[in-house]
Amino acid sequence: MAIRIVRENGDEILRKRSREVEVVDEKIKQILADMVETLHSYNGVGLAGPQIGLLKRLVVIDLYDEKGPIKLVNPKIVKQKGEQEVEEGCLSFPNQFAKIIRPAEVIIEALDENGKKIKIKGEGLLAQAISHELDHLDGVLFVDKIIPGTLEYVTPENEKQK
Ligand code: NI
Repeated sequence: MAIRIVRENGDEILRKRSREVEVVDEKIKQILADMVETLHSYNGVGLAGPQIGLLKRLVVIDLYDEKGPIKLVNPKIVKQKGEQEVEEGCLSFPNQFAKIIRPAEVIIEALDENGKKIKIKGEGLLAQAISHELDHLDGVLFVDKIIPGTLEYVTPENEKQK
């Protein structure tokens, strides 16, 4: 396992569309394991392929609950419902947070790390995370969806003054 470097705002790979994974093999499994390790090292909730410089439709999400890290290959939203206004950030935009509208509920289909078909229903934070990470696979970033006037820069220094 290895921690990968997370690409940041301005890196053009973040704007590119990722390709479908054709074969879920040991190499893909290894990449997903690295993505989880990287996610945990940044205390993040989600990470997508392009963020580690790979244009592959791979996503990991961890809400640090009983569901554990979720590893997704070629995830697709098959249904979404409702809206929620959420506070959001992104590992590729350190210290930046803004309000966004995300679906309240999503149902996705994907393959797991063994190439098995899975279906996941997400509500609340999980729906938000899924929507955010799947956007990355199409080169869409949270800054594209900010509710005007809500972008904030929060650094450890100015957070203390709040
Ligand atoms: Ni992100």
